[in-house]
Amino acid sequence: MNNIAIQTITVALGQRSYPVWIGAGLLADPARWRTMLRGRHALVISNTTVAPLYLERVAQGLDGLHWSSFLLDDGEAHKSFANVGRALEALGQLGATRDACVIALGGGVVGDLAGFTAACWMRGIDFIQIPTTLLAMVDSSVGGKTGVNLPVGKNLAGAFHQPRAVVADIDTLATLPEREYRAGWAEVVKGAAIGDTAFFSWLEQHADALAARDPATVLEAIARKVRYKAGVVARDETEQGERALLNLGHTFGHALETAGHYTTLLHGEGVAIGMRLAAQLSERLGMSEAADTGRLQRLLEKLGLPIAIPPGMDPQPLLALMRLDKKNSAGQLRLILWRGIGRAEIVGGVAEADVLAILQAATHQP
Ligand code: NAD
Ligand code: GLY
Repeated sequence: MNNIAIQTITVALGQRSYPVWIGAGLLADPARWRTMLRGRHALVISNTTVAPLYLERVAQGLDGLHWSSFLLDDGEAHKSFANVGRALEALGQLGATRDACVIALGGGVVGDLAGFTAACWMRGIDFIQIPTTLLAMVDSSVGGKTGVNLPVGKNLAGAFHQPRAVVADIDTLATLPEREYRAGWAEVVKGAAIGDTAFFSWLEQHADALAARDPATVLEAIARKVRYKAGVVARDETEQGERALLNLGHTFGHALETAGHYTTLLHGEGVAIGMRLAAQLSERLGMSEAADTGRLQRLLEKLGLPIAIPPGMDPQPLLALMRLDKKNSAGQLRLILWRGIGRAEIVGGVAEADVLAILQAATHQP
């Protein structure tokens, strides 16, 4: 895969601007990202699945530094406050000073926890994201949302803390299980569905090549999504407005993930089904056309994503879970809906009866 040009996208945040490098062979060539390390200490945070595959390559870039690794067990359940505590202990044992760097090597679970650890150590040190899942490359590694889950809910403790660089080596996708790979495309489709009509059409045209993992097409898709997200983050870093649009499909999706106890559905799968439900709700409210819903459904299906609510999930409990969403205010449902492909908006005061009707219809159809 090494003959593909590396793409560099800048997340423009003044003095905190940083590059996102996307390409093949980036881990085998550490000189590029090594320049981002300011001090003499580094802690690599990874997990027990990813470290045996890629830690050695990262270690080659850390030659001559004081470094160690902290490995999480694999799974969402380990994105916990307790593990942040342990990672901070590891920084302490390393003797990490203010110029130390945390390196996140893994998917979104590792990236979110490692970023939060970096935000906490001495009130904030550098961190570098080395995402190894498609979802982490196109979404979670970019934008500085870091955090962990609490027993009362997912992602409820965290901080905005931007990385110093993102190193997305698409060679690492070679070992990613097929289901995880497919789930990542939901976040790509989401970006196009929210605000990039031309990209949506491009995805429709290239869905087969993406599903078949054609390297050049995959790289182009990742870069287009990252460029879109980088623009949103630069305009609205802390989600005062526009960035909330990136949650298209997430209110439904989180409810579905929670109803499945985070084991039935992957995050991307919940987002895919959630986007379809959001499109159907938009249509019901007279905001969009059936043709747009149809295009969205077809694209998601072509990319191997589910669009139906799994059996055994009932409308009323799902609605109850949706009432807990962070975007709601004054006891009213606030959702990201759309006016067709490329035009999402935040809609407050959505009637529960309309949401329920969509959930009821979706639990009785394939
Ligand atoms: P994940 O981190 O759990 O990774 C998925 C699985 O793939 C894991 O089993 C992991 O060990 C394995 N894996 C990772 N890279 C691999 C590779 N190259 N080869 C083989 N196996 C590999 O899941 P994810 O989908 O990457 O991330 C989901 C998390 O991201 C959730 O916690 C979600 O809340 C978070 N997230 C955060 C943001 C954000 O903006 N910070 C955005 C979206 C999602
Ligand atoms: N994943 C949504 C965001 O970064 O804002």
